[in-house]
Amino acid sequence: MTSRDDLVGRRAESARLVDALAAAAGGRPSTVLLSGEAGVGKTALLRAFADGAEASGARVLTGACVDLSSGDLPYVPVVEALRSLVRDAGEQDVRRLAGPGWSSLARMAPFLGEPEEGTAGGADARVHMFEAILELLRRLGQERPVVLICEDLHWADRSTLDLLAFLVRMITDERLLLLITYRSNDLEPRHPLRPLIVEFERSRRVDHLRLRPFDHDESVQFVIGRSVGSLTPVQLERTISLAEGNAFFLEEMVVSGAAATEPGDRLPASLSDMVLTRVEPLSAEAQEVLRAAAAAGRYVGHRLLATACDLPERSLLTALRECTTRQLLTEGPQPYSYAFRHALVREAVYGDLLPGERMRLHAAIATALSGEQAAAGELAHHWFQAGDRERAFTTSLRAAAEAATACAFAESDRLYERALQLWGEVGDPEALGGAAHAEVLRRAADAARWAGDLARALSRAGAALDEEADPAGRAALLERLGRYRWETGDSEGTLRAYAEADALLADGPPSPLRARVHADLATTHLRNGRYALGRRLGAEAVAMARAVDAVAEEGQALNPLGIGLTMTGDPDGGVAAIRRAVEIARAGGHLDDLHRAYVNLTFVLANVGRRADALEVAQHGIVHVRRLGLEWTAGGVLVSNAATLQAELGRWDEAERTAVEALDHDLPTRSTLYLRLLLAGLEIARGRFDRAEHLIGSAQETMRRLDESEYSTDIHTCLAEIAIWRRDHHGARRAVADGLRAVQDSEDQLQQLRLYGLGLRAEADEAQRLAALGRDVSAVREAAGDLAARAAKLAPDGGAGPLLPDVPLLARLCQAERLRAEGADDPGEWAWIAEGWEGLDRPYPAAYGHWRRADALLATAVPDRAAAAGALRAGHRIASGLGAFCLLRELDALAQRARIDPGGPDDGPAAGGSEPIPFRLTRRELQVLQELGKGSSNRQIARQLFIAEKTASVHVSNILTKLGVASRGEAAAMAYRAGLVPRDG
Ligand SMILES: Nc1ncnc2c1ncn2[C@@H]1O[C@H](COP(=O)(O)OP(=O)(O)OP(=O)(O)O)[C@@H](O)[C@H]1O
Ligand SMILES: [Mg+2]
Repeated sequence: MTSRDDLVGRRAESARLVDALAAAAGGRPSTVLLSGEAGVGKTALLRAFADGAEASGARVLTGACVDLSSGDLPYVPVVEALRSLVRDAGEQDVRRLAGPGWSSLARMAPFLGEPEEGTAGGADARVHMFEAILELLRRLGQERPVVLICEDLHWADRSTLDLLAFLVRMITDERLLLLITYRSNDLEPRHPLRPLIVEFERSRRVDHLRLRPFDHDESVQFVIGRSVGSLTPVQLERTISLAEGNAFFLEEMVVSGAAATEPGDRLPASLSDMVLTRVEPLSAEAQEVLRAAAAAGRYVGHRLLATACDLPERSLLTALRECTTRQLLTEGPQPYSYAFRHALVREAVYGDLLPGERMRLHAAIATALSGEQAAAGELAHHWFQAGDRERAFTTSLRAAAEAATACAFAESDRLYERALQLWGEVGDPEALGGAAHAEVLRRAADAARWAGDLARALSRAGAALDEEADPAGRAALLERLGRYRWETGDSEGTLRAYAEADALLADGPPSPLRARVHADLATTHLRNGRYALGRRLGAEAVAMARAVDAVAEEGQALNPLGIGLTMTGDPDGGVAAIRRAVEIARAGGHLDDLHRAYVNLTFVLANVGRRADALEVAQHGIVHVRRLGLEWTAGGVLVSNAATLQAELGRWDEAERTAVEALDHDLPTRSTLYLRLLLAGLEIARGRFDRAEHLIGSAQETMRRLDESEYSTDIHTCLAEIAIWRRDHHGARRAVADGLRAVQDSEDQLQQLRLYGLGLRAEADEAQRLAALGRDVSAVREAAGDLAARAAKLAPDGGAGPLLPDVPLLARLCQAERLRAEGADDPGEWAWIAEGWEGLDRPYPAAYGHWRRADALLATAVPDRAAAAGALRAGHRIASGLGAFCLLRELDALAQRARIDPGGPDDGPAAGGSEPIPFRLTRRELQVLQELGKGSSNRQIARQLFIAEKTASVHVSNILTKLGVASRGEAAAMAYRAGLVPRDG
């Protein structure tokens, strides 16, 4: 074993590890990836480092992956590390440190006790388990710095990789150094470790050490240090040139005597031949022991070996002595166990077994293991390798369930797959496995779903459905199918599945399942824009859940109810419902539900005009999905929402960064489509049409390939905008018409109104152009009138219309554009619109309103030049802040024509009246003060002025400061005295 003193070379590498540990000890956790070819010296370096680390007071936990070629055992290195921790620190201490996470840890390490019977399964339980590990490491680190070594990740199961990815992502200030090794030459192109390495390398907190082979001097030092007799210079040089700096190779050359042979002598052709030349001279018993050990794995206990080899104790001991003397086996890490001196030795011995021998040995090991408390995964592996179908079947089934308990879904998925394949090859599988085929399919579908293989989940759930006759059982399966289908983007299939499930349960009593299905159905209708129906079904689902005290289901159902309420005119009720859904999901630890509620809360807040709040929620949500490891998958929705909100709030650079970073990852196609169009919108506003067209083209291409139409409205909206800026009237008209056709079945007023607004803008531009040329405008005006009438039908003003604050603004915009088309442009309308958007924190459309207002003011017979200059400058300020170059060009042109300095000082009020405003108030603050004078609350002010409540409260406190008063009452009184509040208001 390499201690610090006999480590050859590796000074720079050791120094980097020491630095990383020092950083970790100071609360800056880090991860070091150590890679290099097999036998190059990764383990040796780490051992020497670990010695030093322990000497300096750190706690070192070590675990290695094992080569069960099928990888049936999840979390091996971490479990091994936990086991050594319990051995060193004692169960009591570890239990104390783990706190409430203890039972969650027991899911992966059954030796810790009974795993918790979690109410929440699937992804939830898994995150809880991962967090329990992180928490344990955090607390251990409070005592002394922790070094966690996970070796040989090229053999890791998927679950171990997921866990490590989680740790790397989540560590913040733990005193933890994570050391990960893998063989760089053992990674096939599709190895699951590859994407993880890419992810790690992106992270600034991960250092990648690529261990190179020894150079010439180091090789000399290494060989001389190990040779018993001395080698001639020729022998030494030949050894060194053959081994090419690989430590294991050099060592084998020395140990096997190959180093001491003369040039003309024949040498073993490969490394494994060299190892095998050392096995050949062993006695038959020693060879048998070695081979059994190779079949058992990297370590093997004495008792197991004795049972499997069927040798009398004395011969066994002699055989073992032979193996250790020849440096083939050494003492293992567990008491009374053996290990191969090096994994490469085991690989050589195992690789040399004949197929029949292999089967016999695996059967012997499996039989011997059956007497011990072996994990089902280990048994399943040996029985499978032994070719024993029945036992492989039963143990695989058991192992699949154990893996699911340990939240190792990828392994569970694979084991179920094997069991299902063996189903037809064994007699009476139902009795053997203790479960019906449909039931096994159902469990297997869940495992595949959580492992992220939706296609497999779908086909298994579909097959189970074919075998299931019981209505409730069918409904439960249909519910699953609906969810999987939605996740694969099959909206129609989703609706069909939920509708059928709902119908199957309709005559039965209320139940949690029924509430869930009903809520899912509601959600699906909402997604298709059927808000009233969605709201009704959502409310029914909430009632059903409450009737049976199903709290989680109630939380789920509150989502569609909240969205339905918001979209049909009760935004406050909607926000409240979804906030409650967030609370329920959080209290119950249902992470999936929590994610969904976050997405919906963002959506609803944005729709009621509270974009800053929505962005905050989205950012919270993103932190949350990062825990789930879903930031770039399911969490893509939140990322898209965040980018949209940033764009709408005028934080374009941030929006662009968010979108570009997200597109760099493997997002679901839906999200990438959306983000590309978002970026296209920004490019258009910035006047970079070619880039925008490129993005749109690629989105169209993807949509054609997927036969997807969800985003065609957005595409037409983009195209219409480009055409408008280019003054391409026909192009704009066509894009608007196409967009309206694409959105016609939906109740999505916003999308429709946005399109009507653009269509009217194009007609108004054209009308003004024709009028200026003295040409006939009647046809264009007629088209505008027609569009305006259709828009007005969508958003009837007044009455019980829906009150998403964007809606009245967009409706008013349509009317203002119609007036412009008719030659009756009205600056007052535009002032209202600009202020409305400002109040909603939407600078870009506000700037458009200012531009239009300035233009309208200047077009009157006796222009109010001061007001026009104010509007122009307000627009100019916003547009240059945003980098909205298209708009800026128009504003500059207008300024030029009107001979106004667009960047000049604001001498008049920002917008509107010619009256000076007292107390240095802004126009907005004046409006707020007038509302205060009426005794309005912040909420009422917010609603009246279409601004966020938070914004209203900021205005109020600014007003109090400017007025030098302490309370709203005093401010109101002062407003009266100053005559700012109309007496009849
Ligand atoms: N720098 C070194 N100084 C002294 N001995 C070394 C050094 N590097 C490697 N060795 C020895 O060479 C042999 C192979 O090295 P090691 O086991 O560390 O390789 P590895 O890269 O971990 O291989 P694997 O990929 O198989 O895990 C070991 O016996 C080890 O003790
Ligand atoms: Mg190693």
